[in-house]
Amino acid sequence: MRPATFTVIVDKVRVEAMDTVSIELRASDSSPLPPFDAGSHISLHLPNGIVRSYSLVNATGHRDRYVLGVLRARDSQGGSAFVHEKLRAGDAIVISEPRNNFPLDETGERFVLIAGGIGITAIYSMAQRLVALGKSVDMLYCCRSREHAAWLEPIQSLGISLTLHFDAQHGGPPDLRGFLDERDRDTRFYCCGPTPMLSAFERACADNGYTHAHIERFSADPNAVKDTAKAGYEVQLARSGKLMRVEPGARLLDVLRAEGIDVASSCEQGICGSCETPVIEGDIDHHDSVLSESERAEGKTMMVCVSGCKGGRLVLDC
Ligand code: FES
Repeated sequence: MRPATFTVIVDKVRVEAMDTVSIELRASDSSPLPPFDAGSHISLHLPNGIVRSYSLVNATGHRDRYVLGVLRARDSQGGSAFVHEKLRAGDAIVISEPRNNFPLDETGERFVLIAGGIGITAIYSMAQRLVALGKSVDMLYCCRSREHAAWLEPIQSLGISLTLHFDAQHGGPPDLRGFLDERDRDTRFYCCGPTPMLSAFERACADNGYTHAHIERFSADPNAVKDTAKAGYEVQLARSGKLMRVEPGARLLDVLRAEGIDVASSCEQGICGSCETPVIEGDIDHHDSVLSESERAEGKTMMVCVSGCKGGRLVLDC
């Protein structure tokens, strides 16, 4: 159930902008790291016991290093604060293999990329990949101020069409609709940023009839996380045969852990994919922001931190 983890060395910690550092990780023996593609993230298993997921910034194809961007969260629960205050070059740290919940559809020819704040990590990785593929890229990069804009110079030197928006300069958020309206419908649209930006992006894409629109959240969708066990249900673990009950209002993740089942987790908000668990049988009540509609319809996997069962019995492959 737990995704593969391994130990790497922190090679560099660098300030990229106000409140944002990059962390460069390498294998301790210089062996190639597992491959990844644009939009992927990894989880850091911090020495203080906290697990946090961060997008990879570097370009697809780099096997010698992973580069992450970490924003110091104002309300840090000990994840980003630890990275900023304690993590130093030379430290060993356990990480997960890369996972991609925000894959790039490379079959397109024209791409619109929109980043808000630290959402630039995945978007910058995508931009590098698209430039390497010779695709047309139109990017909108929004931040609170120029001082908060990480990787600004390398992004400007990519040679793409780039619009910068700084709230402090413009007195508020960008006009996303104005940026998105009247695009070719074959364009691929990608947006990563705070929830209000994602909501505005989704509305504008829906109103324009854009079918190739994709988002990645770094905070929970307020409409997605709900009480998933209103009626209660049974859970069976296929390997041990163990049977347990999830009472109304309870989280499946907590019930599994109370039974001694080792389930990885990071965000516990249905956005990172760390707690993904294979399902053999059952009517899953999905509330995550990770799985696609087709993955949900297949019913072979679920995020146990936010999802549950619509009733009856759930059989998990663990
Ligand atoms: S812990 Fe992140 S999706 Fe469940």
